[in-house]
Amino acid sequence: MAESKADLKKLFIKTYGCQMNVYDSERMAEALGGSGYTEVSSPEEADMILLNTCHIREKAAEKVYSELGRYKDLKVANPDLKIGVAGCVAQAEGEEIIRRQPMVDLVVGPQSYHRLPELEAKAGGGEKALDTDFPEEDKFEHLKARPKAKRAPAAFLTVQEGCDKFCAFCVVPYTRGAEVSRPVSRIMSEARDLVERGVREITLLGQNVNAYHGDGPDAQGGGTWGLAQLIEELATVDGLERIRFTTSHPNDMDEALIDAHGTCSKLMPYLHLPVQSGSDRILKAMNRKHTAEEYIRLIERIRAARPDIALSGDFITGFPGETDQDFEDTMALVREVKYASAFSFKYSPRPGTPAAEKGDKMVDADVATERLHRLQALITEQQRAFQDAMVGREVSVLFERKGRMEGQMVGKSEYLHAVHVTAPVAVGEIKRVRIVESGPNSLAGEVID
Ligand code: SAH
Ligand code: SF4
Ligand code: F3S
Repeated sequence: MAESKADLKKLFIKTYGCQMNVYDSERMAEALGGSGYTEVSSPEEADMILLNTCHIREKAAEKVYSELGRYKDLKVANPDLKIGVAGCVAQAEGEEIIRRQPMVDLVVGPQSYHRLPELEAKAGGGEKALDTDFPEEDKFEHLKARPKAKRAPAAFLTVQEGCDKFCAFCVVPYTRGAEVSRPVSRIMSEARDLVERGVREITLLGQNVNAYHGDGPDAQGGGTWGLAQLIEELATVDGLERIRFTTSHPNDMDEALIDAHGTCSKLMPYLHLPVQSGSDRILKAMNRKHTAEEYIRLIERIRAARPDIALSGDFITGFPGETDQDFEDTMALVREVKYASAFSFKYSPRPGTPAAEKGDKMVDADVATERLHRLQALITEQQRAFQDAMVGREVSVLFERKGRMEGQMVGKSEYLHAVHVTAPVAVGEIKRVRIVESGPNSLAGEVID
């Protein structure tokens, strides 16, 4: 007998961190759907609260504990409430989480969340449930089939997980494990399924997505496919109009992928290609395995393939040993590249990473902050210039939702700018739009025709 909605237990998931966590949260909600849960939007009504966490910087990791603190009263009011911690803090801290916060019932890492139904049952029986394995099996093969419901027009699809790069500052190789690529055929069937449900834009995800090397389909000769080949195959799917990918490492931008930016019309002209620093000394200490000059040359090749490409990056200020000159080299690199957007962070020492363990000389916190502010000011200026230069241009916009004003619709341009128009367009439509104004956070446009 089918359960009525009222019989379903209620699940509240809060997601921190990168897009891969967003994707994982969806899959976790689907997995728990099989255990009789439906998602709700507030912790107060939940029978289970799941925090999908991020360990990348200390602040991100500590947020988990302050959030858990806020649930104390809920747990007192409803002793049957189950609280779970998933994601990268779960992986990094495991049992320590339950020691620090005994009201946590369940801890599950990013590679074992296909086992959530069993863990939930265990927690339901009053036991603590912990699973931070890196299992042999492919979790995607063990996850519940995705539901057939209609979806928003833009979706994420994880194609690669983990990282073998071991940048000296970064926890990802430890929290997500070694690089693994999903087979092409599985990605294609998931993509086709998304498109059938209304998706028109897919962003391929991986901690190192351009290191993708998945098994090619037997019917197409097998072998190992790179990201460019995967993108070309996805471009053959009718109804899928836009393809993006993130995040990439400069050393994995091969010729085929650079060319794809010039030849594949469905591949959007936006590339997030973090460099972290403009100083060769610091890049070496970070174990990034390329120089600033090599990065600049790479950008030139990408721009030759796709001159209008929007470039984005990530930067860290105050990495141990960073001098004023090293930081000036970063500023110089940013001035040369001219980013459409970029993210910058103050270095945060992470347990278990080489940069933190070596006890290298930390940069004075105020100096690191001051550098961060200067860098952010420069990036904001570039972002502004790139956005303002859109005025008068024609872009294509995938409409995703209604705007705040009556009759207004909002979508994303190929360059990832938010664009709003006042016109009778439907969610999921792609229209040519002339940009008429550049506002604080978005562009205003007029639909052509
Ligand atoms: N895989 C991606 C980045 C993943 S983490 C890549 O290699 O580019 C996202 C960003 O967080 C990184 O690019 C870096 O800029 C920042 N980051 C990672 N570890 C950090 C740390 N310990 N302190 C400050 N920022 C960090
Ligand atoms: Fe972290 Fe470096 Fe891997 Fe990116 S490439 S996930 S920064 S170790
Ligand atoms: Fe954070 Fe883990 Fe993503 S540490 S950035 S959630 S891979």
